[in-house]
Amino acid sequence: MALSLHVNGQAHPVSADPDTPLLYVLRNELGLKGPKFGCGLGECGACTVLVEGSPVRSCVLPVASFAERVVTTLEGLGDADNPHPLQQAFIDEQAAQCAYCIPGMIMSAQALLSRVPEPSEAQIRQALMANLCGCGTHVRILRAVQRAAR
Ligand code: FES
Repeated sequence: MALSLHVNGQAHPVSADPDTPLLYVLRNELGLKGPKFGCGLGECGACTVLVEGSPVRSCVLPVASFAERVVTTLEGLGDADNPHPLQQAFIDEQAAQCAYCIPGMIMSAQALLSRVPEPSEAQIRQALMANLCGCGTHVRILRAVQRAAR
């Protein structure tokens, strides 16, 4: 029987093998390119999505384990015409350089802000600690999350 995924408010039938990592299904089958393939090992955070509001590394977990769960990708927050306040804050602070890490950063930040609407700098740093940025725009990313929290 085909799997069904609940992503960004819609149910999607999935034909992939149940052991396929969620990230591959999101990108290749559902066409959601927000989550990125970075390390493929659960270490960089580029593939982060929200599962029932909590950040999850989608590159390492099989799609079958998400069958009954609510998944949100970057596309589920907003888009270029109607950006989510967090996305707008990243734009306003020019937080992206190459931008490859930014979707994962935003999803981890969203998980934090939904739990802690006015986080301290230390809480933001802690929440984003496992999301790696090779360009080194961490200060701007921090400011963007602080701006969104205002
Ligand atoms: Fe998933 Fe790096 S691509 S953690």
